[in-house]
Amino acid sequence: MNFTKKMMTAALALAASAAHSADLEVTHWWTSGGEAKAAAAFAKAVTEGTDHTWVDGAIAGSGGTARPIIISRILGGDPMAATQLNHGRQAEELIEAGLMTDLTELAEAEGWADFVNPTALLDSCTLDGRVYCVPVNIHSAQWLWLSHDAFESAGLDVPSNWNEFVAAAPALQEKGIVPLAMGQQGWQQNIAFAALTIAVVGVDTWRQVTVEKNADVAAGPEYAKVFEAVVDARKLAEDSNVQDWNLATNMVITGKAGGQIMGDWAQGEFAIAEQVAGEDYTCLPGMGLNEVIDTGGDAFYFPVVDDLEVKAAQLEMASILISKEAQVAFNLAKGSLPVRGDIDLSTANDCMQKGLKILADGGVLPSGDQNLSADTQTQIEDLMAEFWASDMTAEDAQGRYASIVADAD
Ligand code: GAL
Repeated sequence: MNFTKKMMTAALALAASAAHSADLEVTHWWTSGGEAKAAAAFAKAVTEGTDHTWVDGAIAGSGGTARPIIISRILGGDPMAATQLNHGRQAEELIEAGLMTDLTELAEAEGWADFVNPTALLDSCTLDGRVYCVPVNIHSAQWLWLSHDAFESAGLDVPSNWNEFVAAAPALQEKGIVPLAMGQQGWQQNIAFAALTIAVVGVDTWRQVTVEKNADVAAGPEYAKVFEAVVDARKLAEDSNVQDWNLATNMVITGKAGGQIMGDWAQGEFAIAEQVAGEDYTCLPGMGLNEVIDTGGDAFYFPVVDDLEVKAAQLEMASILISKEAQVAFNLAKGSLPVRGDIDLSTANDCMQKGLKILADGGVLPSGDQNLSADTQTQIEDLMAEFWASDMTAEDAQGRYASIVADAD
């Protein structure tokens, strides 16, 4: 037995010796059909792989609703055993306050650094050299999802990029089809803004603003084109009156809308509706213009608890969530890519294969949660909610955006 393996066995033996079947409350915001199925795959892995019980603490709504609830419970001394958050900077303050369990020993014992791919995922769980979360997937947000039914009924070919999509919109509208499905929530409108940005200005200019926080570029002529593109997209989404992202996906599934700009979790909804990628719907990473994906996604954090048994059980759960078996079962249901580079995903569908190829080719970018503080993200999402829901001009929105970038941390 090598050293790492020995340490791993020791760490888990320690965990197991202290832990006798604990009830582990797990909070997350996976409440759509596809998400619930993926969460159930994790619950099964934990229940079958340990003596503990996954007590499901799903919080209805989006991350924007769930995160403040999760954070205030931890701050208020009522921690859950484990919680989903997006990996990146969302838990930064909780970690700094000493409220999250340090997983470094387990991560080292199990050699997470050797198989987590790309390494940015583990970096996003690490603060001052210590690991505080277990990354469970890569979810990217630069995808255009298209309904074959919608385009067929308008007598059109399925577009192969955003520009063709915009050109096809009038023909869809003539048939009473909403071109762009859009849930009326700032985080969804911000996803569309960010995906359009990369499509319109390309990765290098996007990087200058989002990674380097260059407010002059944000206020400049290249970015002006992005805000014009949003004004166009806003018109295409005028008749989309749903709120939740999965209801917008459902408009695409049922052919009521031509397409949706959304993260690859949309795939979980197509899957439970038994739609087949490439036959019933098409997914275009990078909106078909710039084939890149970001390395956003989900991670589990384990709030510090007094109870030693729960503490030991938390480590066991972390170990299971990143195990090969759980990674395959969960990610196939979720539509996300696994965090391990050492598992076989040959059963993944067309869209996941596209994502895996981009990942293998290195076409990855940091996500908003990795680049920006939670506060900056919220300011941008609030601006997008206002921009999409009003007749705010491209110029005004750009000015406000540039000043957020100027103050971004
Ligand atoms: C994201 C999360 C995904 C998915 C999505 C919509 O924040 O990373 O897993 O759940 O929200 O709920």
